Amino acid sequence: MAQLPPDVEEDDCLPEYHHLFCPDLLKDKVAFITGGGSGIGFRIAEIFMRHGCHTVIVSRSLPRVSTAAEKLVAATGKRCLPLSVDVRVPPDVMAAVDQALKEFGKIDILINCAAGNFLCPASALSFNAFKTVVDIDTIGTFNVSRVLYEKFFRDHGGVIVNITATLSMRGQVLQVHAGTAKAAVDAMTRHMAVEWGPQNIRVNSLAPGPITGTEGIRRLGGPQASLRLKCLSSPLQRPGNKTEIAHSVLYLASPLASYVTGILLVVDGGSWMTIPNNVNQLVESETFSAKL
Ligand code: HXC
Ligand code: NAP
Repeated sequence: MAQLPPDVEEDDCLPEYHHLFCPDLLKDKVAFITGGGSGIGFRIAEIFMRHGCHTVIVSRSLPRVSTAAEKLVAATGKRCLPLSVDVRVPPDVMAAVDQALKEFGKIDILINCAAGNFLCPASALSFNAFKTVVDIDTIGTFNVSRVLYEKFFRDHGGVIVNITATLSMRGQVLQVHAGTAKAAVDAMTRHMAVEWGPQNIRVNSLAPGPITGTEGIRRLGGPQASLRLKCLSSPLQRPGNKTEIAHSVLYLASPLASYVTGILLVVDGGSWMTIPNNVNQLVESETFSAKL
């Protein structure tokens, strides 16, 4: 039985860490991580830094990324630059990439992890609600990838990992906005892998399953007990943790995956195949407004 790497629920660094990969795997690399101040993005930043990487973590809230950066630097001794960026706003993104390049002189890795989500039936979703999620997840991923390509990757190569989801594989209830947005990102992954491969840029997607200690699970997973029950019906019979996702992202971002591009790596304990997709939830959610 494979051993589960430990994790903590909060946006805190791990109290102790045992390397499974070589500790120098990302030595002196620089990673630009959107959504790096919380949840899965925070743990990706930590695990990268524990493997020698410096990071730039960005999200809308400067206090959030600044607090996160302090914790990350204290735990790992690597450098971390926190910046306020709305990935929907290209000038924001351009200014942040310029600032990161000024600080570090290069960027080797981009992790597109910023996202927005909530449960809502398609019939009650306002035009703006659908657009907002597509703007953050899909357009945001394009904006940051495009800017980094222009400002650095085109001439130096690079690695992009897009954090997506398995929602669209079966058509998950109450998730038309996020499922559509993430499916478009998976398509973007393949298009960019094909177009940018000749510049030595690898582009891959990674789709987590239900991951404990995250805003995603707090919003979508229901009460802790019902989540664990739901996960019992998945092949590995449990939710995943943030460290497990970060390890798989580390693999994709590192030279271990030097010949891997254009793929979707699903890291979900097999849950997308068997986890309940309960149409009765639509009835339970009849309180949703139908405002357009
Ligand atoms: C229906 C909603 C809604 C809800 C917002 N809206 N929340 N509609 N149900 N629960 C509608 C609003 O009414 C508005 O439409 C539109 O969405 C935009 O809302 P704003 O609050 O103005 O948007 P904004 O401030 O840009 O915030 C974006 C957000 C917010 C997505 C709505 O929740 C956010 O900032 N989220 C970031 C964190 C997050 O979501 N993390 C979880 C990621 S997990 P109207 O028509 O009224 O103007 C994840 C997991 C995937 O992605 C897979 C899991 C298995
Ligand atoms: P999270 O902590 O809420 O992460 C989302 C991050 O995106 C936040 O740090 C948020 O910070 C940032 N963000 C949101 N809108 C932004 C914007 N417009 N510009 C810049 N940054 C923005 O949630 P999480 O659950 O860890 O999710 C992380 C990623 O994993 C997401 O891509 C999600 O879709 C994916 N995922 C999660 C799960 C899960 O079980 N949790 C499952 C499948 C996929 P600010 O609010 O400060 O901007």
